[in-house]
Amino acid sequence: MNICVSNGEAVQFELRFACEGKVQEDVPFTGEFLSKWITFDGGIPVLLMGLGKRAELDRKRARRAAAKGVSTLIEMEVSSIGIDVSLILGVLGEGSLRAVAESALLALYRLPGWHFEEKARRETALFIKGAEEITDAQEQLEEARRLAEQVCRARDLVNAPSNLLYPQTMAEEMVRLGQKVGLSMSVLDEKQAAELGMEAFLTVGKDAAQPPRLIVARYDGDPESSERIALVGKGITCDTGGYCLKPASSMGGIKGDMAGAAAVFCALCALAESGARVNATVVIPAAENRIAPGSFLPGDIIGSMSGKKIEIGNTDAEGRLVLADAVTYAIRREHATAVLDIATLTGAVVSMFGFTTAGLLCDDEEMCADFLRAAELSDEQYWRLPIFPEYERMIDGKLSDVSNVSTDGCGTITAGLFIRRFAEGLPWMHLDIAGTAWTDPPRWEYQSKGATGAGVTTIYHFCRRWGEAHRNSAQSGAEN
Ligand code: BES
Ligand code: ZN
Ligand code: MN
Repeated sequence: MNICVSNGEAVQFELRFACEGKVQEDVPFTGEFLSKWITFDGGIPVLLMGLGKRAELDRKRARRAAAKGVSTLIEMEVSSIGIDVSLILGVLGEGSLRAVAESALLALYRLPGWHFEEKARRETALFIKGAEEITDAQEQLEEARRLAEQVCRARDLVNAPSNLLYPQTMAEEMVRLGQKVGLSMSVLDEKQAAELGMEAFLTVGKDAAQPPRLIVARYDGDPESSERIALVGKGITCDTGGYCLKPASSMGGIKGDMAGAAAVFCALCALAESGARVNATVVIPAAENRIAPGSFLPGDIIGSMSGKKIEIGNTDAEGRLVLADAVTYAIRREHATAVLDIATLTGAVVSMFGFTTAGLLCDDEEMCADFLRAAELSDEQYWRLPIFPEYERMIDGKLSDVSNVSTDGCGTITAGLFIRRFAEGLPWMHLDIAGTAWTDPPRWEYQSKGATGAGVTTIYHFCRRWGEAHRNSAQSGAEN
């Protein structure tokens, strides 16, 4: 992926933006949002992309217009594009360069083809014009490139089919990618997980075609501090529902049930590449949820690494089981001081918020505020759900500590609260991306059909803020 500030090199095509109003005499193009027009300037072809009314222009619209412009030119097989950002930066400020560059790069994403030899991704060179005066332009473009690359990597992981990407191959791929950016990687097999008592995790993956793996990626960006955030991502590489089998009509997306895992891993890679001052550990419980002779059954009562007993109401509510043990692992073995988990966890969140907005639960006001500010930088949409005391009772077990299904609705909230029972009182946040991780058709111009890479950018920005706000000095034990 390639983007840089233009040095006046010749490009095949220019992309320029226009706000609504009479843009040019004698042409029908008025600058209406996402409308386009091709013209020439000094012999260079120019694609004009409408931004809509100036007063309505925001960063999200700028992202959408930039992506649509680049996609249009790629369809025309243009190999070098000069993007004139002066109008957008004039309206939205210099800091919006990163957002525009990021979505221009995301428009370059192409699905990998597995049926042939890995096809080279189309290499289109992007040059930014109109940012020459901006002192941190180079930094903003670098950050945009790092983020776009990691979003694309997350999309690749989620788009990969379950027969190719299963716990062991996902672990191998992440070890390879993680080591390249300097993460400390470790992978626990089922025997090592059993020694730690991870029964909730192992129960889901038991007797499946491919054995489970616990993938751990550590980034020590602030060795002076003892603060560490756990980033726990659901890594179910195929979710058939188990004995509570999904209907065939719901099986289309079962390979995408590890989007939470992809999000936290790729966000951590971006943090490492940028040298962010934060300590973070990604923990991914990777397993298949299948039907096999030894698979778990509704009514079973199982243990967990925490010691809590869990009764199974539904084998399709498997995500919270594997996440519970992963959270305990992050706290007890990695000494996390705050927990963020992310998962394609419930159909209920899709009914509530559709495919553009993820659900959020959080029991710490400062953590929540920081995350929502990070979401403003990424232009992803999250909406916070309430934690009322009566919701807690809905997952109390009859024969055990906790049940994996609610007795009384509130599917998204109770799924989150199940996981919170394993957070040991630490500041905790939960993101349900079942609606936003996958899109067909694309809802925004910077997406492509299939995996979206949801969560990567917001988690990255959030962790940077969190590192900034939670720095202490472990050596001296002093606050600063
Ligand atoms: N991975 C699914 C949730 C999901 C649904 C993701 C739709 C993407 C699109 C999860 O494991 C699941 O099956 N959840 C059940 C829970 C229920 C049985 C309590 C659900 O939401 O139906
Ligand atoms: Zn699932
Ligand atoms: Mn399920």
